[in-house]
Amino acid sequence: MAQINFGGTVEEVVTREEFPLEKAREVLANETIAVIGYGVQGPGQGLNMRDNGFNVIVGQRKGKTYDKAIADGWVPGETLFEIEEALEKGTIICFLLSDAAQIELWPTVKKYLTAGKSLYFSHGFGVTYNDQTGIVPPADVDVFLVAPKGSGTSLRRLFVEGKGLNSSFAVFQNATGEARTKCIAMGIGVGSGYLFETDFYREVTSDLTGERGTLMGAIQGIFAAQYEVLRENGHSPSEAFNETVEELTQSLMPLVAENGMDWMYANCSTTAQRGALDWWKPFKEATKPVFQQLYNSVKSGEQANISITRNSQPDYREKLEVELAELRDSEMWQAGAAVRSLRPERN
Ligand SMILES: NC(=O)c1ccc[n+]([C@@H]2O[C@H](COP(=O)([O-])OP(=O)(O)OC[C@H]3O[C@@H](n4cnc5c(N)ncnc54)[C@H](OP(=O)(O)O)[C@@H]3O)[C@@H](O)[C@H]2O)c1
Repeated sequence: MAQINFGGTVEEVVTREEFPLEKAREVLANETIAVIGYGVQGPGQGLNMRDNGFNVIVGQRKGKTYDKAIADGWVPGETLFEIEEALEKGTIICFLLSDAAQIELWPTVKKYLTAGKSLYFSHGFGVTYNDQTGIVPPADVDVFLVAPKGSGTSLRRLFVEGKGLNSSFAVFQNATGEARTKCIAMGIGVGSGYLFETDFYREVTSDLTGERGTLMGAIQGIFAAQYEVLRENGHSPSEAFNETVEELTQSLMPLVAENGMDWMYANCSTTAQRGALDWWKPFKEATKPVFQQLYNSVKSGEQANISITRNSQPDYREKLEVELAELRDSEMWQAGAAVRSLRPERN
């Protein structure tokens, strides 16, 4: 483990220097890693592990997604199987179905979790909220997670570019005494940047807060509020969209990613800097109570309950499509589509 100072707090993290890929291959040399589910994380993690030289198979029900796995080079009967066959062959079961499907498939998965096997997650959800999911692993299997901090699509893209997404890792149950080493080896194998340790509860509470907050929910809310105010004051859609979204994604966030917020501020006009320095605190004061309300709702299990109830409904996909269409058809995102079509590289 490397000791790194994160703004005054020293944390122990794992990088490929302390735990090289070669070591990960040795740790998992005798394992058959069964990636169950080929949605978003399945392809990202599965392909990265395969390219890293691990023994990987995929378990996926027949249909469009199964065909996608074939197109990605998985071979039926050799490295691609129906879910139950893969569960039988696998020694590390990577449970990468959607969180709602994990509840439905759990009784099947449990049948194949014989002593000494490992159960791997990429989210603490199923185990943490087991009063609602029923996911209680048998005592004689190792249970751990590696949660890449981003989409499986980005995990794969960055891997191909020779980079990596950071991931958290956590051990829930160490039946063999080797769970932690296996878990870290999986983290390196799926192509993580650096790995930081957590537990299942903290992983799920931070993750649910983040995606409902600044990563997805809050950012759309703030975009919509500013866009509306600009439009109500007579600004054109093009002007409102560029000042709300386009400049942020195309110009400013890449600067923040490179060198931090102060550096981005330092590279803007003095007028912009003065305004941003005066206004970030009122925005923080205005939104902090909403973040507190959100965290409490996550902590109480209410958010998990909403997620399970809504995502388990048979017409979940149709209802989701209606809500996504509301975003897509809004003037702001229609203006966004027009702005994207005018980006120079698209001409
Ligand atoms: N997405 C992310 O960015 C992300 C990031 C970090 C962690 N995670 C975690 O990674 C895990 C996997 O997430 P994901 O987003 O990759 O999942 P996903 O794309 O929603 O998973 C879909 C997979 O589940 C299968 N599936 C759905 N319902 C099924 C059913 N009733 N029976 C059998 N298979 C079924 C799908 O097969 P069909 O296509 O045939 O329906 C597909 O293979 C979750 O625990 C999630 O929280 C996700």
